[in-house]
Amino acid sequence: MKLLEPHTLKNLTLKNRVVMEPMCMYSCFNHDGCATSFHQAHYTSRAIGQVGLILVEATGVCPEGRITDRCLGLYNDSQKEALKKVVDAVHQEGSMIGIQINHAGRKCTAVDGVDTIYGPSACAYDASSRIPHELTLAEIQHVFHQFKEAARRADEAGFDVLEIHGAHGYLISQFMSPCSNKRTDAYRDGNLFIHGVIKAVKESWPETKPLIIRVSATDYEPHGYQVEDTIRMLKPSLDMLDAINVSSGGITPIPPTKIYPGYQIGFAHQIKHALNIPVIGCGLLGSSELASCLIESETVDFIGLARPLLRNPHWVIETAINRNIRESVPPQYERGFK
Ligand SMILES: Cc1cc2nc3c(=O)[nH]c(=O)nc-3n(C[C@H](O)[C@H](O)[C@H](O)COP(=O)(O)O)c2cc1C
Repeated sequence: MKLLEPHTLKNLTLKNRVVMEPMCMYSCFNHDGCATSFHQAHYTSRAIGQVGLILVEATGVCPEGRITDRCLGLYNDSQKEALKKVVDAVHQEGSMIGIQINHAGRKCTAVDGVDTIYGPSACAYDASSRIPHELTLAEIQHVFHQFKEAARRADEAGFDVLEIHGAHGYLISQFMSPCSNKRTDAYRDGNLFIHGVIKAVKESWPETKPLIIRVSATDYEPHGYQVEDTIRMLKPSLDMLDAINVSSGGITPIPPTKIYPGYQIGFAHQIKHALNIPVIGCGLLGSSELASCLIESETVDFIGLARPLLRNPHWVIETAINRNIRESVPPQYERGFK
């Protein structure tokens, strides 16, 4: 097992095990949720940089599903067409591309076209946030439908992979955490909401294409949930998933107690073994030695990089050159590495 060797995820062959993690770019300056020339250049340059799988940033399944007014959306056909251009350009440069679909729930700060924000319960994220409307059972079914429709558009735009955003305190993880979920009905248990979203997505996302969920393994709250709870909540949906992207926190303003290279890897490894499913590990993994070691020791299956790829779109190429793997250099750039 090597970091820079090809690896498969379901039917998809990736040229290496490096995944660009989703990162909001807040660059839909017209508030229309449509990808712009910035998104095209941004994602295509990571494809030229030889990243195996590029995950497009959190993209709202409805206007109030966006985190901010400047976030991407996938709830109309103009947004689909704009994203298709990004997909085509990334494919042209030989990388695979997925998209993270999201409902921001109580963390929605968008105001354009948004009168009401929603959550599992009527409790705000923090003192400066709006109080969400507690989703009724009928509204929960509608949210499932919005995820299904976004998944259909993602497929039509040509995405290879779909990631459901179940992390960082957005709607799905609000259902997972007792800090944000105070319901008294069956949705008190987060697994029911997760299952509903995944089942809805599977109705329109092709069986042949990989489906991932990103989760926060824990909310870091004393009365919150732990990685064991995450494992329990994912279990009923496991046969519909192809990998889990493991992160942590974001449900309340409480940060992790210690942040160091690989601080979330223990969670990823625990989920991998408990559920016997491939995992993407992430969090301060910019050292290529650490990343290689985590792959070669089979601790995780893929290395997720966010900020390292913001700093250096050529992280993969430079890592390859340092290991004398010259084939990773795009021919146009060869002279830069002689
Ligand atoms: C600018 C920025 C935007 C982010 N947006 C998202 C996002 O849209 N979805 C998501 O799941 N995580 C998001 N994250 C978190 C990253 O995906 C990643 O989990 C985190 O930065 C830790 O990885 P790193 O140490 O490689 O940066 C974002 C991080 C950054 C720096």
